[in-house]
Amino acid sequence: MARLSSQAKAGYYPTPESVCGQLKQLLNIEDGARILDPCCGAGIALAALVEGTAATTYGIELDHERATEARIKIANLLWGDALVEMRLSACCFGLLYLNPPYDYSLAPDSTSERMEALFLKRFHETLQKDGWLVLVIPYTVLAHCASILARHFGNLQVFAFPEDEFQSFHQCLVLGQKRALVAKAQAGKVEQELIVIAGMDPDIFLQTAPQLASCTERLTIPGPRQPTCTFKCNRIDPLEAIPLVRKSGLLEELLTHDLAPGQRNTIRPLAPLKNGHLALMLAGGYMNGEIEMNGRQLVIKGVVHKTEQVHSVAENNKGETTVTTRDRYHPTVKAIDMARAEMLIVQ
Ligand SMILES: C[S@@+](CC[C@H](N)C(=O)[O-])C[C@H]1O[C@@H](n2cnc3c(N)ncnc32)[C@H](O)[C@@H]1O
Repeated sequence: MARLSSQAKAGYYPTPESVCGQLKQLLNIEDGARILDPCCGAGIALAALVEGTAATTYGIELDHERATEARIKIANLLWGDALVEMRLSACCFGLLYLNPPYDYSLAPDSTSERMEALFLKRFHETLQKDGWLVLVIPYTVLAHCASILARHFGNLQVFAFPEDEFQSFHQCLVLGQKRALVAKAQAGKVEQELIVIAGMDPDIFLQTAPQLASCTERLTIPGPRQPTCTFKCNRIDPLEAIPLVRKSGLLEELLTHDLAPGQRNTIRPLAPLKNGHLALMLAGGYMNGEIEMNGRQLVIKGVVHKTEQVHSVAENNKGETTVTTRDRYHPTVKAIDMARAEMLIVQ
């Protein structure tokens, strides 16, 4: 239970090793094939799937700690929000391995959607024709993904997780091969079949759905058809950027020549700064140092602390807990009056 709670933190439910092993047996990965995992966690599943092949791996992860861990295992790793911060080529990847967070999006009203469906909507277009999707979701969420699956994928198959792994989150694996868009009316029958599966009782689903181990079909993951592939993030990772900036010598040059104020230079902003700008600069540490105010000598220091807050805790009928947390940022400005030895803290 404690293990489940900690794994559930920030939507981290890594694919069990046994499932990765069974899946790997089915894959026939052509040389140079591009494999994408947009929610790669620590990169363990993706690395296991391509081990011993000449595939190129691409991973995205929101959690900084996990992204840093994944960077060691994955050839191309981006840290950031896969849904909003990434620029990726369409029709570029041979395999999309998608095990997204099992949750609703944070929209405060009825427009809230299942995250699994949002990820599928965003990333199915990155697959090249005949490329394969492996989607890992709770089987009940099939209803939310049914329309996209039925319209964009052929050779669809739904497998149940092995029984001992199934009990935690009721996951299934969906395999599907990317094809040209099918008309809504034509896709209706498959869509309905998926919705019926999603409505099953967990025990019935487990008894009826095939196990991955029983699958005899081999999935050929096609090599690249496009010579290049855009894979970029709009966010800069400070851990990556700082060594590069240091190495380039740009920082010293800027500090010594460009930013160091000349003797009689005063910098005037084009427009007067508003209180909001000043507050941000203060809290961000841009105004750290000594200042004089109304005849008082003050030393200013601005810091921002990050804390994690539990947003929601949900328990399923098996007594298993899912905890969703959110990051909060607390700006603080400290001012020390040197003459009176007083400290003023604004939070
Ligand atoms: C279910 S885990 C899957 C991990 C890995 N792919 C595996 O199968 O073992 C989902 C991962 O997605 C990450 N994640 C959640 N929201 C994300 C987002 N918007 N962009 C990128 N990653 C996200 C979580 O931090 C978590 O590590």
